[in-house]
Amino acid sequence: MTVFEDLAESRRQLGEAVAAARRIVFFTGAGMSTESGIPDFRSPGGYWSTRKPIMFDDFCTSREARQEDWRRRYDLADQLAATEPNAGHFEIARMVACGRASHVITQNIDGLHQRAGTPPEKVIELHGNATYATCLSCGLHHGLDDLRPEFEATGEPPVCRYCGGLVKAAVVSFGQAMPSGPMAAAHEASLAADLFVVLGSSLVVYPAAGFPLLARRNGATLVIVNREATPLDAEADLVLEGEIGEVLRGISAG
Ligand code: APR
Repeated sequence: MTVFEDLAESRRQLGEAVAAARRIVFFTGAGMSTESGIPDFRSPGGYWSTRKPIMFDDFCTSREARQEDWRRRYDLADQLAATEPNAGHFEIARMVACGRASHVITQNIDGLHQRAGTPPEKVIELHGNATYATCLSCGLHHGLDDLRPEFEATGEPPVCRYCGGLVKAAVVSFGQAMPSGPMAAAHEASLAADLFVVLGSSLVVYPAAGFPLLARRNGATLVIVNREATPLDAEADLVLEGEIGEVLRGISAG
């Protein structure tokens, strides 16, 4: 592991790694979106400092849990409507557009990579997407805006308009199975990567945090960009302790 005190030297090293790479994969966490104004989960003042996770089983069995989950969904939807992708999202989108980066594997549910211009088929969402909902019984998609008036008028958690099943935002809750398609796509992209860049993740949540290790053990160069140390720093070729926007600015130009 190499950690430089001097950010300019770390950026130079990252620039060299980017210039030499043929197939870059970016792996993003909540730290990717803090510069857009969305708090992360585990920093002081983060999302989990004031709320408890709603477990998947509780969502399925408790009306109160479903009500709370839906309140949180609409709070996030309002927040996202007032949010824009940041410089880091745009830099990544440029690197995908010019073919340097093959994929973005993200734990984020905010859709900001897509809004910055990364094509949806290049964004592998491990923890789902908060911008729509699906029926847990039949899989039918539902728009959050379509469900909102009735939820706000009655307080009743939405049910499927087709089969009457429970409708849930299309995100992976704690205790819920990981989506098989994105897991397989992330596996394949990680194995094909020659440079794997982690951006803004505490790397404590598995199975997502297994992908940087998979890529590294398959021969990719592993770079971790995070404000603070992570448990996988010892496995990385280069660790940059800094702000993502500052680290990534103009990195593809070199
Ligand atoms: N630049 C660099 N690092 C940053 C920045 C930034 N601008 N902002 C935050 N960070 C760092 C924080 O220091 C922290 O280590 O990003 C990391 C974010 O970690 P978490 O809050 O744990 O987020 P994440 O790793 O994405 O969490 C994984 O946990 O609760 C679940 O499902 C949720 O997908 C999420 C998963």
